[in-house]
Amino acid sequence: MNILSERIKNIAPSQTLAITAQVLKMKAEGKNIISFGAGEPDFDTPDNIREKAIEAIRGGFTHYTTDSGIQELKQAVTEKLKKDNGIEYKTSEVLISNGAKHSLYNALMALCNPGDEVLLPTPCWVSYTEQIKLAQARPVFIPTSQKEQFQLTARQLEKCITDKTKLLLLNTPNNPTGSVYNLAELEKITDLLIQKDIYCISDEIYEKLVYDEAKHISIASLGSEIKKRVILVNGVSKSYAMTGWRIGYAAGPAEIISGMAKLQGHCTSNANSIAQKASVEALTGDQSSITKMHDEFDQRRKFMVNRLNEIKGIQCDLPKGAFYAFPNVANILNAGIIFNGEEITTSLQLADYILNKVEVAVVPGSAFEAEGYLRLSYATSISEIEEGLKRLKKLFN
Ligand SMILES: Cc1ncc(COP(=O)(O)O)c(C=O)c1O
Repeated sequence: MNILSERIKNIAPSQTLAITAQVLKMKAEGKNIISFGAGEPDFDTPDNIREKAIEAIRGGFTHYTTDSGIQELKQAVTEKLKKDNGIEYKTSEVLISNGAKHSLYNALMALCNPGDEVLLPTPCWVSYTEQIKLAQARPVFIPTSQKEQFQLTARQLEKCITDKTKLLLLNTPNNPTGSVYNLAELEKITDLLIQKDIYCISDEIYEKLVYDEAKHISIASLGSEIKKRVILVNGVSKSYAMTGWRIGYAAGPAEIISGMAKLQGHCTSNANSIAQKASVEALTGDQSSITKMHDEFDQRRKFMVNRLNEIKGIQCDLPKGAFYAFPNVANILNAGIIFNGEEITTSLQLADYILNKVEVAVVPGSAFEAEGYLRLSYATSISEIEEGLKRLKKLFN
């Protein structure tokens, strides 16, 4: 008998989690692994935020809240969106969820009918594809190129639109490429979405982590016509080192937000009451911790990319956002390296080779629908980066 539903059988297990499991196993065996797999800041949540959570517990703020989130946090989100992104929302247009990942799932489930097509520029974050499939929609990959800084162009987008296209899933700053969309391209994409009546889920979780001259622009800020079609997703995980607290939010047209809230009400009810209180402090309190973490990431980014480019067969552009380097390793994949009797031709084989040979964990590009690349997180100390890249250099030079 088939125990598992077709829905679950259709979902691919996460390649990133498989690597994490292998790293843990090797560490337990006493191996000195350097891991560049992390998708989260290595900093602690700032003290002022933690204090507010303790206050909430002591004050007995430990019960169910309104499904869609406490008014105080929704208010803080609307103020943040106005101040940082120049977009006006009412609190009825905001939903607080259990992480940005949950907001994305709520949005896809609220918008997609079976057979709808969701346009997904690649390389893309691992969970999008599976969430789209869970919503019974079809992911339509649009490969972007390194030459164009991994930005989807309106020209590419137009070619992929069919009468089944429901929405575009946009992620800027991007995981895994670190690409940050520029205004000119976003404006062209906006015009096309309006013209073709297509919705957009805009994942802006890495908003605070942009470097050099790059500026984060929310597509929802580009006029009232596009705002009607955008579900903006963000949260506190990456900006405030709060990944474990599980607070994300979505902002968009009231009809869509209330559809998402209806679903959430039956699945998880409200997000954690204590974490909601802490998130109010994150959004409205002292913001200096963001600058400190940002500056540290910036320093590591340059350090890691410089060192990567010293390695034979690796070419890495300086990413403009998030906390990942995304080196091109095509030359290594063409070098005819033999490992365990097999020639290494894929990023998955290469990641396995690196882990086994020099005990450094990296994520293969194939996990993000992008063969020929690796992803290395620099959410780890400079000394770890230095040691890990020394090992890679020794292996390939
Ligand atoms: C692009 C992207 N969106 C969303 C998330 C999930 O964020 P959260 O921890 O708030 O659920 C991640 C986490 O890795 C991510 O990389």
